[in-house]
Amino acid sequence: MLFPLWHETAGKLAGNNHKKEMHMKKEPLFIAFASQKGGVGKTSLAGVIVKLLVEAYPDKKILAIDADPAVGLSTVLNVEVDKTIDDIRKEVIKNVEGGDTKTAVELLGEAKYEIMDAVVEQDGYAFIAIGRPETAGCYCKINSYLKEVITMLSDKFDYVVIDGEAGIEQINRRVMEKVTHLLLVTDASKKGCQVVQTIKKVADELVMYDRIGVIANRIPDMDVAKLMDIGDLELLSVIQSDLKLAQADVLGENVFNLPDDAIIVEGAKKALVNMGIL
Ligand SMILES: Nc1ncnc2c1ncn2[C@@H]1O[C@H](COP(=O)(O)OP(=O)(O)O)[C@@H](O)[C@H]1O
Ligand SMILES: [Mg+2]
Repeated sequence: MLFPLWHETAGKLAGNNHKKEMHMKKEPLFIAFASQKGGVGKTSLAGVIVKLLVEAYPDKKILAIDADPAVGLSTVLNVEVDKTIDDIRKEVIKNVEGGDTKTAVELLGEAKYEIMDAVVEQDGYAFIAIGRPETAGCYCKINSYLKEVITMLSDKFDYVVIDGEAGIEQINRRVMEKVTHLLLVTDASKKGCQVVQTIKKVADELVMYDRIGVIANRIPDMDVAKLMDIGDLELLSVIQSDLKLAQADVLGENVFNLPDDAIIVEGAKKALVNMGIL
């Protein structure tokens, strides 16, 4: 199904006219995942959504970003990563005079072309990974770097899918500022359901989203889903445990090879349709 690509239009359709002025520039659709904890299915869902976008929009430019220092999206998509954003950052710091005292913006001015080296071309999409900074102290630096990279690359793509790290650090640091479609992933637990509402409150302040919604993942059965209380958030999709995904995971197979009737593929598709992306 054809849907207006630019979120200027999407925002209007969603009734977010108050955000209109921010959307005058043509920018891609940014789909990002957030959750309080790891292991809820963000990375698997991000991979499946890249697959669905590539299949639905073969002529569009799609970028997948592994923004989690814990790394994972490259694994579920079987992408071989040579260079990460963090590698480039280290190189630039070494080569530029006074590199370690410069800000992310200043450094990136020097490294525009190098960043393109870190973009891996895949069949139907491009991929870039933030990398794994060795020292914990680097995390906030790499996040400001990532934010600039997202800005730099955004006008070259129609769709950007971001697999973020667990927790709200990247929302707080405004890495997710430009995200247009924010997907909050949770399990069925009471705590999980409360936390997505807290994340929404933070996102209301710091993310210029057009649409926000919840994907309930690894839900034991549909009756359990009915008991979930996520306040005024929209429940985009309920996904049960998927044996085919579990098998792919054990064998290290690309989520692109999951069949259309795999539970996670159907569930991810439903979420995209509900947000008007497919
Ligand atoms: N619906 C599901 N059914 C079965 N296994 C799942 C499902 N969703 C995720 N998993 C598995 O759970 C584990 C954690 O998922 P992952 O996507 O890495 O979560 P996160 O990125 O939130 O840490 C992985 O082994 C993944 O294969
Ligand atoms: Mg992950």
